[in-house]
Amino acid sequence: MLFIFFKGTWRLRSTTIKETDMSNILEISASGRTQGSLTRQLTGELIDALGDQLGDANVTRRDLAAGLSFVDDQWIAANFTAPEDRSEEQRSALAESDALVDELRAADIVVIGAPMYNFSIPAVLKAWIDMITRARLTFRYSENGPEGLIKGKKAYVVVAAGGVAIDSAADFATPYLRHALSFVGIDDVEVISASQAGKSTEEVLDAARTQIAELVDAQPARRVA
Ligand SMILES: Cc1cc2nc3c(=O)[nH]c(=O)nc-3n(C[C@H](O)[C@H](O)[C@H](O)COP(=O)(O)O)c2cc1C
Repeated sequence: MLFIFFKGTWRLRSTTIKETDMSNILEISASGRTQGSLTRQLTGELIDALGDQLGDANVTRRDLAAGLSFVDDQWIAANFTAPEDRSEEQRSALAESDALVDELRAADIVVIGAPMYNFSIPAVLKAWIDMITRARLTFRYSENGPEGLIKGKKAYVVVAAGGVAIDSAADFATPYLRHALSFVGIDDVEVISASQAGKSTEEVLDAARTQIAELVDAQPARRVA
C-alpha cells in the first residue's frame, strides 16, 4: 500500500511494488578438499545460476569438512525417548541433529556436493544422513510402508569421481544418495555428473556446466509481482 497526496488529502493507493518470495538454498559440501575441489566449484556455480534464475535467494552453507558427530549410545536413547520426556542431557545429545533437520526443513532447494570416496560417499556425508534421518521427525512408518516427512524440496547432487562412471555398477554413491533422500521425502533429485572417467578436468567441467545450465533453465523463477 502507498499513501499519495491528491487534491489536498492523503489517499491510500494499492501499488504494484514487487514482493519477493525468496527461495532458501541449502548447500551441503562433503569434499575433504578445500582447494581444487570439483564438487565445491560446481555447487558454487550451480547456486550462482539458481540465484540468477530465481531473482534472489538465501543461501545457507553447511561445510561437512568441519566434521559432524556420529550416532552413539546417547543419541539413540534420546531419539527413542518421546520429546516431552527427554532429559536435558538427551536434548543436548540431539541438538546437532535437530539443527541439521531444521536447516533442511527451512530449505526449498538442497544442493549437495558429493565426491565419490571408495565407491560410495564420504563418511561425513553419511554422518549427515544419519543425523537427518529421524524416525517420527523426517520419516515414519505408516500402513503403506515408510513415508518421508520432508516434503516439497528439490535437490541437486553434484557427484564427482575419478575413474568410476556415475551410475555404473561400481557407483554406490549416486543410487544410495537418491534412495536416502527419497526415504526422507526428497524425491525430486537431479544428479550432475562430474566423473573424470576417460575425460580431462576441462571436459568434466564443460559437461557438468552444460547439465547445470539445462537444469537451471528448467527451474521455474519464483519472483512474484
Ligand atoms: C579418499 C578418496 C577416495 C576416492 N575414491 C574414489 C573411488 O572409489 N572411485 C573414483 O572414481 N574416485 C575416487 N576418488 C576420486 C574423487 O572422487 C575425485 O577426485 C573427486 O573429484 C573428488 O571430489 P572433489 O574434487 O570435490 O574433492 C577418491 C578420492 C579420494 C580423496
